[in-house]
Amino acid sequence: MNTKIFEPTEENLIDAAKIIAAGGLVAFPTETVYGLGADAMNHEAVGKVYAAKGRPSDNPMIVHVARASDISLLTSELSKTIVTLIDTFWPGPLTLIVKRKPNVPDVTTGGLDTVGVRLPDSDIARKLIEYSGCPIAAPSANLSGSPSPTRAQHCIDDLDGRVDCIIKGPDCRVGIESTVLDVTGDVPTILRPGIITAEQISAALDMEVEYDKSLFVRPEARPSGAGLDAGFSADFKPKSPGMKYKHYAPKADMIIVEGARDRVEAEIQRLKGLNEGIGNKVGVILFEEKAFVEAAHEFFADLREMDKTGVDLILAGALSDTSQVGFAVMNRMLKSAGYNIVKV
Ligand code: TXA
Ligand code: MG
Repeated sequence: MNTKIFEPTEENLIDAAKIIAAGGLVAFPTETVYGLGADAMNHEAVGKVYAAKGRPSDNPMIVHVARASDISLLTSELSKTIVTLIDTFWPGPLTLIVKRKPNVPDVTTGGLDTVGVRLPDSDIARKLIEYSGCPIAAPSANLSGSPSPTRAQHCIDDLDGRVDCIIKGPDCRVGIESTVLDVTGDVPTILRPGIITAEQISAALDMEVEYDKSLFVRPEARPSGAGLDAGFSADFKPKSPGMKYKHYAPKADMIIVEGARDRVEAEIQRLKGLNEGIGNKVGVILFEEKAFVEAAHEFFADLREMDKTGVDLILAGALSDTSQVGFAVMNRMLKSAGYNIVKV
């Protein structure tokens, strides 16, 4: 397939929207990561997204809308909680899991009776959706399993030849995917942590917010090359199906070093020396202490950069869990490393 690479001009966005409306696939920027979009209501088009990414088809997609009121195309249950969250955080990196209307295809929701909805804070994304005339289902625009794309070049690297069009927009401002919040039960529950934190959501709603328990499960480190579900016991069933797959993995092996800062630095130096001594090329990811937002912005891009330079082993310093943004980045870092952690 010949992939069109578009600058985000008005004319090109109109053309890209026509591709979506005709059932094609377009990769586009959002403020979090790039998405790979298809008409959310078109069964066949959404099926092509799974194929282009190599994504398991029980993993539901987030549906993106161009204006807040369009959530009513997808759900008929708008509680006070949902309205408050929309007023406070949209447009922005918060996905709301709501009961779906029957017209939302099974292929979009992975067969669930709920749907994830988000209004992105990116003019390019919102125009593309608006001009398409339909909500856009879009997972991150990477090959399944590899780090999420935060720059246009990452989409080109993964998807050139596999999709109809890639919009070459700016680098993503946030750098990790949206916070996913389940608002179908009595207590709003974070299924995937992100830059919008439990504390902020709790303050907006004036009520407790929970984290899904599976976020605190650290399965055994699995051998590199192990299958998708390796390391998880058969009864491990997180609410958000995407959380169970091996994710964000660089080609290099990766070890996370966790502990007090000075010890972490010393252990990274020690492991680096040992590995270089036997001819391995080693990359280090060590963010400034408490630079959580910057870590979110850089992490995926760093992983891809290291793979490009042919690193064999990545040594990463764990971020402190005391920050909710740090926790969100650690959620990705742990998966990238296949839960391979050294404590010092
Ligand atoms: O920031 C983002 O959310 C990006 C941009 C493109 O918007 N999208 C994104 O999509 O990260 P994806 O498909 O890579 O991740 C979606 C996550 C998965 O973990 C999926 O299982 C979960 O959201 N999800 C989607 N719909 C769900 C539902 N109805 N119930 C539970 N989890 C759901
Ligand atoms: Mg993804």
